[in-house]
Amino acid sequence: MRDRAEHKKPTAYDLWGGLGITEHPGGVNATRRLIALCGVRPGQNVLVIGCGTGHTACLLAKEYGARVVALDVSPQVLRWAGRRVAAEGVSDRVILMVADAQNLPFAPGSFDAAVAESVLMFCDQAQAATEARRVLKPGGVFGDNELTYLKPPPDRLRSLLSGEIFGVRVRALNEVEWKAVFAGAGFARVTSVLHRLSVWEQLWSHLQIDGVRQYLTATIQSLRDPTVRSLAFNLDVLRQAIRLVPYVGYGLYVCRNAPPDDN
Ligand SMILES: C[S@@+](CC[C@H](N)C(=O)[O-])C[C@H]1O[C@@H](n2cnc3c(N)ncnc32)[C@H](O)[C@@H]1O
Repeated sequence: MRDRAEHKKPTAYDLWGGLGITEHPGGVNATRRLIALCGVRPGQNVLVIGCGTGHTACLLAKEYGARVVALDVSPQVLRWAGRRVAAEGVSDRVILMVADAQNLPFAPGSFDAAVAESVLMFCDQAQAATEARRVLKPGGVFGDNELTYLKPPPDRLRSLLSGEIFGVRVRALNEVEWKAVFAGAGFARVTSVLHRLSVWEQLWSHLQIDGVRQYLTATIQSLRDPTVRSLAFNLDVLRQAIRLVPYVGYGLYVCRNAPPDDN
């Protein structure tokens, strides 16, 4: 009985999929900065890895004129992305699919650019970065936004962002470690820009992406779930999370594949 009850615990994937809200540090502002750093141009083929509810995929298609393939490992979350793609009228420019960032179902050199936002921290990072590079054309660019330690946190706070949270493996790194992951995956040039986290930017971004109604509904729904309530709204965890804020930010990593001449 106990085992069965444990199996029923929602994972982060169930939460994202059920509530219909996903996020990444820095929200919409960070997305625009990342796309600008990648220099996405109209007509380019762009892969969105771990697209969540599909905001960035739609933005790339609508405002940047990209042809987008957006994937996520969660079929549930993709249903929300499908609704957004239809509502935004970009069904002809955005293909959605279930796939794993660690084993991408594309031939080498399929894309001009790839974008991931807060996805690799849930993956085998070396494997996902290697896969992102493999599917890029020579000279292609991978833009990744990942939670990044700005300075080493005390061990008891670090444990909040390493290990398993809601059934999903999580590991945040510092800037040097992230850059080593991308260099190790074979990218020829890796640059990074670090930003601090802003609770207000995060909240505002949620409201922009999800709308007030969807955001409030999701918050109330998650408060009603006893497991989520006990973990995410646990006073002790919240206190520790607040203490962790000065130690974490996010990095926008721009990773370039070697241009054709160098290959
Ligand atoms: C924090 S959410 C971010 C979603 C989206 N990028 C956004 O900014 O809204 C993490 C997303 O990564 C997806 N994900 C986690 N591991 C994955 C994997 N191995 N392959 C593909 N997607 C994955 C999750 O399903 C979830 O949608």
